Amino acid sequence: MDIEGLKRQAAARALEDVRDGMKLGLGTGSTARHFVDLLGERVRAGLKVLGVPTSEATREQAIQCGITLTTLDETPNLDLTVDGADEVDPTLSLIKGGGGALLREKIVAAASAKMTVIADASKWVQPLGRFPLPIEVVPFGLGATQAAIARALEGAGCPGDQVLRMSNGHAFVTDGGHWIVDAKCGRIPDVPKLAAALSGIPGVVEHGLFVALASKVILADPAGVRVIERPAGR
Ligand code: A5P
Repeated sequence: MDIEGLKRQAAARALEDVRDGMKLGLGTGSTARHFVDLLGERVRAGLKVLGVPTSEATREQAIQCGITLTTLDETPNLDLTVDGADEVDPTLSLIKGGGGALLREKIVAAASAKMTVIADASKWVQPLGRFPLPIEVVPFGLGATQAAIARALEGAGCPGDQVLRMSNGHAFVTDGGHWIVDAKCGRIPDVPKLAAALSGIPGVVEHGLFVALASKVILADPAGVRVIERPAGR
């Protein structure tokens, strides 16, 4: 099976947890796209759900699929978010933001009672950090913010180069109007320590480390689908 087939298998397994009347966070990226597509099929067959998209791209797809949308202003507490990830470790900490939607993804996941991550098995790593860590920043004061990020990376034991994400010759702009710096950590020995240090930098809007947000991970590889749940209280 090709990689898109594996992503779709993971998405299909996540759909088994969706019940009539649920309020759902809808993730962003190529794997979440399969979930929204499959959810749309169920909705057209009569399932009633409300969705909160984590990006403008997902909003457009969900509308095309016939999924009724709401906002976190109207519906601040969601039952379940289903989203992809760039890396997942055995504690179910994640790196997200490869698609640039990390801020809305984190807000929506934090507003959800549960978060299921769907991925092909290549995303399962130990430790996190091979995938460059996306950090959403405000354009003002970028040099000072990057210097502070460098100190945070150093302090957490994972110094590495930072690259301002570009698109068509310009800085990539997120749905929130911010920029993204991708930090090449290599390996992150203490994820909570780095997460806390980055969160304390004034120019950092949000970072792509998702700690204690995912409650379940569904991984698909050619041998089948594996479901890993985070133990209660961790
Ligand atoms: C979007 O900003 C990201 O967090 C995605 O969820 C992540 O990059 C996974 O994307 P794929 O499913 O396309 O690999």
